Amino acid sequence: MKKNTILGFGVLLLLQSCVKNPLSGPDDTYAFRMPDYFPEPTYTFANNPITREGFTLGKKLFNDPLLSSDNSIACSNCHVKSVAFTDPQHRLSLGVDERAGIRNAPSIVNMAFMPEFFWDGGVNHLDFVAINAIENPLEMNEKLGHVIAKLNDDPDYPALFRQTFGIQDTITSPYFLHALSQYMLLLVSDRSKYDMVQQNKATFTAAEFAGQSVFENKCSSCHPAPLFTTYDYTNNGLDTAFEDLGRGRITEATMDQGKFKIPTLRNVALTSPYMHDGRFKTLDAVLEHYDQHMVLSPSLDPLFLQSDPPGIRLTADEKEQLKAFLQTLTDYELLKDPIF
Ligand code: HEC
Ligand code: HEC
Repeated sequence: MKKNTILGFGVLLLLQSCVKNPLSGPDDTYAFRMPDYFPEPTYTFANNPITREGFTLGKKLFNDPLLSSDNSIACSNCHVKSVAFTDPQHRLSLGVDERAGIRNAPSIVNMAFMPEFFWDGGVNHLDFVAINAIENPLEMNEKLGHVIAKLNDDPDYPALFRQTFGIQDTITSPYFLHALSQYMLLLVSDRSKYDMVQQNKATFTAAEFAGQSVFENKCSSCHPAPLFTTYDYTNNGLDTAFEDLGRGRITEATMDQGKFKIPTLRNVALTSPYMHDGRFKTLDAVLEHYDQHMVLSPSLDPLFLQSDPPGIRLTADEKEQLKAFLQTLTDYELLKDPIF
């Protein structure tokens, strides 16, 4: 018994000093966890250790319309939990005053591993994402400083920030941004059927298994397991000319025009509509695009030029098998987890 306690204490100390795996105390409900086949997180937890209080405050902020100019829109309006934190209703996101944005709201699971954010990689740290959402006139149309003032005037928030971060004075933006990140960081999607199969706790059906091998042959160079993205930017042949320059907007390189971040396919069965502008409603439409409807442009990924016409030929059987495999990436455990 005694030996166990000492060992337990040692392990706890070890974990607390280990940035990769910050713990929030003896109850590890709020610890950052990931399976051993996931890559190292990109987020620097040492600067913002996750605690129960920080996560809970982040969750409250994420769901609070106070963050928008007319107190009408919360982060959770566009990142809806039941559909893996995407927006099922709008092809292009809808902000305050029904203002239409230019892009489709992506899923925000597994943000701890993402090197750059947004479809064009325009933000390079998770803590800064919220500033863009808040200050974008087509989204929350608010000023960060004004949100902080509203939080300081609120009857509940000042005490919550003091308890969470041990601060004496008023709320400032770094604490606000850290709390939001704590909530998002724990949205690790790793409990899908695909994961259960990796962990020998489930087996694929024949169709899922066949779909996995089609996927590995035809899709995984851009969408590799376990996160189903390389996080690179490329052009998968949606358009001949680009209204939205995508990655080209950031790098200003002509060859980057029309390239977008390769999205994760985790929970893809739930994250319709698809692509940076939400142009496809169904997975069938996506597969038809890869098979038949790809168009040429200077930055088209050369992989697609290996076929003529460009694309990835898929038989009717392969499409069904691919869909069966993609369904196994849905993480119902995460979506029904009461802590979120
Ligand atoms: C009006 C809808 C809307 C609101 C409100 C909104 N978002 Fe988003 N979110 C988007 C869209 C659209 C994108 C993609 C933006 C782009 O690529 O230019 C996005 C991207 C993101 C990303 C990056 C995901 C990725 O894969 O790169 C994160 C993280 C995120 N939002 C978190 C938040 C947080 C936190 C809030 C609240 C402070 C918030 N969002 C409010 C629509 C919204
Ligand atoms: C050469 C790289 C590449 C290959 C190969 C590739 N994809 Fe993609 N995929 C992308 C890019 C880039 C996007 C985002 C494009 C955009 O929105 O402009 C994307 C988007 C998607 C989406 C939309 C996801 C969402 O959340 O909007 C799905 C689904 C998808 N791909 C499935 C597949 C399947 C299935 C295959 C194999 C048949 C495949 N991809 C092969 C690069 C690739």
